[in-house]
Amino acid sequence: MTIPLIPRIGALVLATTGFYAYVGSMVPQNEVQPPPTSIVIPADLTTEQMVTVGREVMDTKGLCFTCHTIGRSGALRFPDLAGVDERAKTRVPGLSDVDYFAQSMYEPEAFIVPGFNPGMPVINRPPIGLTDQEILCVIAYLQSLGGTPTVTLQTAHRYYTPAGGAPAATGAPAAAGAAPGAPAAAPAPSDQKAAPGQQLPLIAPPAQKAPVAPTPPVVPGNPPATGTAPR
Ligand code: HEC
Repeated sequence: MTIPLIPRIGALVLATTGFYAYVGSMVPQNEVQPPPTSIVIPADLTTEQMVTVGREVMDTKGLCFTCHTIGRSGALRFPDLAGVDERAKTRVPGLSDVDYFAQSMYEPEAFIVPGFNPGMPVINRPPIGLTDQEILCVIAYLQSLGGTPTVTLQTAHRYYTPAGGAPAATGAPAAAGAAPGAPAAAPAPSDQKAAPGQQLPLIAPPAQKAPVAPTPPVVPGNPPATGTAPR
């Protein structure tokens, strides 16, 4: 006997649909994740481990090597970073290599490497937006280029004072908002000595924070208007 046409077409449609559904379900389903917003950095990293993490940050989220090179010479648009720690120690009088590296990332317009144009993005702001800890790791790696890494995650510099850490050594008041590229200053209660009987404020009084809030965003290519940054 012959099967009528309509059921035959119906069976073919079902079989075909089923076949493709089956093949489709065998394709691995990959969930597309947004890029990690920050790399997890344990607080007890050694300086040596920070060097490794710093390089990783520069390769990935930091996007440093979209511009910079290590060990290239010739007509370069961006400063080559080979041996940069040696130069960092003397680039700006009064700035240690750590402070100079911090300045190059938090406030790149404050000093322009001779022979180059401004154009380095502010690294702790979006789109790159590295955290203070990631930047410390990057500093450790930069120190390893031509020098000996010394920073730890407890190292303070002009733009960042770790909670409970020592105040920045070079005097520039990191908490006063003098540096336009600096992040909203974290209160550093540990660097104030309480007079006998006086309580240390745990949170900086609002008056101290007020001048920091309206800082205009630093647009790469436009030097910050305030011009109060120490050179
Ligand atoms: C869009 C391109 C660009 C990106 C991305 C970039 N830089 Fe730069 N960088 C520059 C330019 C241009 C200069 C030179 C001008 C200046 O001094 O600001 C510079 C200068 C520097 C200097 C000073 C070098 C010296 O010889 O004194 C350091 C250090 C540095 N960058 C580190 C970094 C690190 C670390 C990153 C990633 C977290 C990074 N840069 C990402 C463009 C870039």
